[in-house]
Amino acid sequence: MSKKPISTGNMELDSKMGGGLPLGSLVLIEGSSAAGKSVLTQQIVRGALNAMHTVALFTSENTVSSMVTQMRSIDLDVLDFLLLGRLAILPMALTELGADAPMALLAAIRCETGRSLIVVDSFTSAVINRQNNQQILRFFEMCKRMCSDKTTIIISLHSGSIPPEMMSPIRSMCDAHLQLRTEQDGQRLVKTLEVTKIRGAAGVTGAIVGFEVEPGWGMRVIPISRARG
Ligand SMILES: Nc1ncnc2c1ncn2[C@@H]1O[C@H](COP(=O)(O)OP(=O)(O)O)[C@@H](O)[C@H]1O
Ligand SMILES: [Mg+2]
Repeated sequence: MSKKPISTGNMELDSKMGGGLPLGSLVLIEGSSAAGKSVLTQQIVRGALNAMHTVALFTSENTVSSMVTQMRSIDLDVLDFLLLGRLAILPMALTELGADAPMALLAAIRCETGRSLIVVDSFTSAVINRQNNQQILRFFEMCKRMCSDKTTIIISLHSGSIPPEMMSPIRSMCDAHLQLRTEQDGQRLVKTLEVTKIRGAAGVTGAIVGFEVEPGWGMRVIPISRARG
């Protein structure tokens, strides 16, 4: 298992993060629908597998088979890793669990802490029930405690699904925060990734990159007028 930061599978993106996602981080990936949360997490999963990490990918959007197909569509073939047991794809039905979803997911994550990377894409269906604010904060707190030299946890979340006053404690608990947006850039709409925070890599804070998702390829960095960092 590599001790290097976890790669996003795209060298330009990695360099904007000071080399990649530091091992042992709790990472929050925020963005609205179609902003690129799933594609980004899928690229990170493949980057981690390439670096000999073992990965558990909790998905609210795919079955095992549709995840393999989706990843293949952006040139990320994971079938061998799946067959070898180095990757576990774990579909979750968070909506059915109602207000208990965060704690049920936490228990499932705990069973996977033998793996070096745990990804939840996405946590949104666990938070649409607004009765469980305490559980949501506790979920992030406990995830943070599970992170160590050997365990990195990535959670994706739809922006706006959690009340704004709860977002600041959550963001500050996370070691890394990536904000995905779809924005107007002159005449066109572009996807952007802002590196809001990477603990231990102060120089990268605020870096913004534009990207597009290309079939058969995945995330491709594109120049945008407001890019900085
Ligand atoms: N295989 C693919 N080929 C082309 N575009 C894709 C592919 N997979 C995803 N996309 C596009 O990438 C964008 C980001 O998708 P996704 O990562 O699923 O968003 P999110 O998870 O944030 O809702 C969307 O515009 C989606 O249509
Ligand atoms: Mg998604």
